[in-house]
Parts: sequence; structure tokens; C-alpha cells
Amino acid sequence: VHIIDCRSARFHEVPMAAELRQDMAVEMGANFDDLSVDWRTAFCRYFGGKQAACRAEIFLAFHGDEAVGCAIVSIIDDYRNVVFNTPSAFVNAVFVRPPYRRQGIARRLMELVIAWAREHGCIRVRLRSSDDGRALYTTMGFNVGREMELDL
Ligand SMILES: CC(C)(COP(=O)(O)OP(=O)(O)OC[C@H]1O[C@@H](n2cnc3c(N)ncnc32)[C@H](O)[C@@H]1OP(=O)(O)O)[C@@H](O)C(=O)NCCC(=O)NCCS
Repeated sequence: VHIIDCRSARFHEVPMAAELRQDMAVEMGANFDDLSVDWRTAFCRYFGGKQAACRAEIFLAFHGDEAVGCAIVSIIDDYRNVVFNTPSAFVNAVFVRPPYRRQGIARRLMELVIAWAREHGCIRVRLRSSDDGRALYTTMGFNVGREMELDL
């Protein structure tokens, strides 16, 4: 069993989250490098900027110096957030490198995500699950919601 340290990404570690997100995309059959040449820069600016403003937190799981897992939480920009002061959080980029799976790393990252959302006054955590993720989220208490969408 590996000794894994789960913690917030420091500013210079934000590109590690982009790298993990790319590995996740490739595993799921959609290489981000085919979609855009400079998405990493935009990704780091987006989430790094939000993290600096305390509107998001990037959590990484480290095995030594290597980032082997990731989960990102951010406050959703929604009118209820402002009108009722009841923000919700959204989770992105939940990924654990294959050799490190089934050791509870994603669960630990998600626990950090949920604690962060609570500390930031959120009343709900939302995400879009992959087939792989469903069992994890269900055991953590997530319900399938009523959200709908229309592809244009
Ligand atoms: C989904 C993913 C993040 C899970 O990471 P992980 O570190 O292996 O998850 P954990 O070890 O914390 O799993 C916690 C629990 O979730 C459930 N679980 C996790 N992976 C599972 C799987 N493949 N099949 C069934 N249950 C699973 C189990 O209940 C597990 O507890 P257990 O190992 O005691 O049975 C990882 O498989 C992954 O990166 N997949 C590819 C990317 C992806 O789909 N990400 C989710 C996007 S929404």
C-alpha cells in the first residue's frame, strides 16, 4: 500500500492537475490536445485564478513528488448563490492514476472537496458522474438529481 498525501495544490502545482485531467480525457477517449493546443494554459488560468480568489480548490494526491490523483471543487456562479446566500459547489476532474485505484484515494479527495464546500457555506455539491465514478459517489451519499440538458 502506497503512502499518499492528499492536499491542496500549491500555485506552481496547478499544471499537475491539468496533466491528470489530460490523462483522464485520454482514458475516456477524448484527447484534450486534439481539441485545443493551449488548453493547459487556459485550464491553469481558470482554476488557478479561482483558487487564488478562494472560489475553488484543487486537491491533489501525492505519492512522493508525483501527483497521482486529483479533484477540483468550485463555487457555482448561480443567482441563488447571491439572492439567497445559498451557494452550491461543483466538482470537476476526479481522477486517480490506474495503479493507485481502489485504495480509497478518490474517496479521500472527495472528502476534502465536501469539507471545503461546507467551509465555504455551500448547501449542495453537484457533479456529472462517469460510469466509473457512480459507485464512489453513491456510497458517499450523492443522489441522482433532476437536472436536464439539451445538446445544441
Ligand atoms: C472513479 C475513480 C476516480 C475512483 O478512484 P479510486 O481512488 O479507485 O476510488 P476509491 O478507491 O476511493 O473508491 C472508493 C469506493 O468507490 C467504489 N468504487 C471505486 N471504483 C470502483 C469501481 N471501478 N467499481 C466499483 N466500485 C468502485 C467502491 O465502493 C470503493 O470502495 P472499495 O474499494 O472499498 O470497494 C477512478 O476509478 C478513476 O480515475 N476513473 C477514471 C476517471 C473517472 O471516471 N473519474 C470520475 C469522473 S466523474
